[in-house]
Amino acid sequence: MTRHFLRDDDLTQAEQTAILDLAAQIKSDRWGRKPLAGPETVAVIFDKSSTRTRVSFAVGIADLGGVPLIISTANSQLGGKESPSDTARVLERQVAAIVWRTYAQSGLVEMAANTTVPVINALSDEFHPCQLLADLLTIREQKGKLAGLTVTFLGDGADNMAHSYLLAGATAGMHVRVACPADYLPDERVVADADAIAVTTGGSVTIYTDPADAVAGADVVVTDTWVSMGKEQEKAARVALLGAYKVDAELMSLAKPDAIFLHCLPADRGYEVSSEVIDGPQSVIWDAAENRLHAQKALMVWLLEHA
Ligand code: CP
Ligand code: NVA
Repeated sequence: MTRHFLRDDDLTQAEQTAILDLAAQIKSDRWGRKPLAGPETVAVIFDKSSTRTRVSFAVGIADLGGVPLIISTANSQLGGKESPSDTARVLERQVAAIVWRTYAQSGLVEMAANTTVPVINALSDEFHPCQLLADLLTIREQKGKLAGLTVTFLGDGADNMAHSYLLAGATAGMHVRVACPADYLPDERVVADADAIAVTTGGSVTIYTDPADAVAGADVVVTDTWVSMGKEQEKAARVALLGAYKVDAELMSLAKPDAIFLHCLPADRGYEVSSEVIDGPQSVIWDAAENRLHAQKALMVWLLEHA
């Protein structure tokens, strides 16, 4: 049966580890794998803007011997005239995999249910699982392990990155803390799913409203924009409520002295994070941005092998 990657918990802990191991191997031997030689084509569809995801999938598909077909829904039939299911049936006759950045997760579910080629979530309103593979690879490079580490996400607890940290962190056996205002709590179904996973991996999930409590003793501190794509109209209200969750040097000093800082980017310096932190010595944001390439190549190799 075709495997898809729509949410972080589509992978078991063993599968997640296998993909991260493969990513590390591919990083050390960049052109050693050619599963798309032919060349086969991979469709990479964008309903929303992107720099890192667009570049890392295009480069990664080329590295694997294939051809990336970058499609903007602004000038395709998907999103307006044609459903995800009909689009899936058209694409599967011609491409090896479908990568899609979209709004509602339900579109990805519909696409995957109607195709025999792997579908990869390149960000939805609910999850950003490809970013988490890159973040976990980066954390593992810095700390030598994942299980048992404490990772604190601060900011919009209902955003795709918070949800993906809950699921992927719990899968990795990490202690995941999310600190956010009561108005921006994570989806309780995602918290329940992460809790259930954590029971099996030795991790844990805790939701905080106090940022200082959440950061105390953390190994990894993470934030994301307060204004995700599609939420631009809410900017003033969000900035007013989320100000207390800004990651600055004072908050960072409450984490472990060797704690690292991550942000999926793009960042709004001065809002969710100070320049001092994001451009400082604890920040590993550029490694994580590069690791999108290696992690997604590993993911594609693994999905193609399990198709
Ligand atoms: N982090 C990330 O997904 O960046 P882009 O929006 O530039 O793809
Ligand atoms: N939460 C952000 C992530 C951007 C990569 C957004 O959805 O806009």
